[in-house]
Amino acid sequence: MQKISKIAVLTSGGDAPGMNPCIRAVVRTAIYNGLHVAGVRQGYQGLIDNNMYDMDPRSVSNILNLGGTILKTARCLPFRTEEGMETAYQNLKANGIDGLVVIGGDGTFTGALRFSKKYPDIAVIGVPGTIDNDLYGSTYTLGFDTATNTVIEAIDKIRDTADAHDRLFFIEVMGRDSGAIALRAGISCGAEAILLPERDTAIDTLIENLKAGQYNKKSSSIVIVAEGDKRGAYDLAEAVRKQIKFYDIKVTILGHLQRGGSPSAFDRILGSRLGFAAVNALIKGETQKMVGLEANHIKLTDLEEALTQHQFKLEDDLMQMADILSI
Ligand code: F6P
Repeated sequence: MQKISKIAVLTSGGDAPGMNPCIRAVVRTAIYNGLHVAGVRQGYQGLIDNNMYDMDPRSVSNILNLGGTILKTARCLPFRTEEGMETAYQNLKANGIDGLVVIGGDGTFTGALRFSKKYPDIAVIGVPGTIDNDLYGSTYTLGFDTATNTVIEAIDKIRDTADAHDRLFFIEVMGRDSGAIALRAGISCGAEAILLPERDTAIDTLIENLKAGQYNKKSSSIVIVAEGDKRGAYDLAEAVRKQIKFYDIKVTILGHLQRGGSPSAFDRILGSRLGFAAVNALIKGETQKMVGLEANHIKLTDLEEALTQHQFKLEDDLMQMADILSI
């Protein structure tokens, strides 16, 4: 078994609230166990640019409450090339690093797995950090809870004004391939319809339901559209506008505000647990694994498996419940 003496930690891809508590846990768990830790700035780009610095317990003081990531993040194309990976490897070796914790989503894990297969003497553990909640092997990913709460707060406010004006709002939430935020926010805000990338949108059914809502004396209606829906919020609103005259129709795109903000208690605890588990996994000699939380227990999943099964699995029972509760 390879003995680890110095690890590096990085955040990559879209930032997610909870990344900072996770970085804190990685740094302090490593130091507690006698390891050295380097923080890599700007994800894989920092590995290529040798942009890293030694961290100590005070490097991560007072960051539990911060959104974003103190290490910064990037979507790094050069790391996808053989040359980029080779430079990153040489920099890691030059810094005496033999273990790597990568915090991010499926793109981050794809890079980590390719790198680790090519250079197996650097052990790699992934931590699921993405607001999209679309990774196999963890019921929840870092940032999903905070982002969903941010969305709920915004939609509650929109509901106030929608109700005051008897309006119909199409609200687009994040999730390029995942309807996870849309579904949870839809249930929490009593949305009249939830449109997801995992399902084809039946426009006729949507119009029928909205008409039924008006017949049942609803004063406002909210349709949540996940970013990955094939038609998109503006197009859908246009199609509905042609057939529904009783509502004034508006569109709101929530955008990147969903990714910011102080992490919720859930994400602070999840980040702490996953960071702690990631370092302990490295110490035990694990590599090419993702640490996740299943049934409130830490679970290790092969990165390969996490990636091949990565899609968010739509919970049909929740969709059905949301439909019934919004009559
Ligand atoms: O992966 C997280 C995510 O926020 C997705 O929901 C969204 O589609 C994407 O990132 C946006 O990425 P960017 O900030 O690079 O435009």
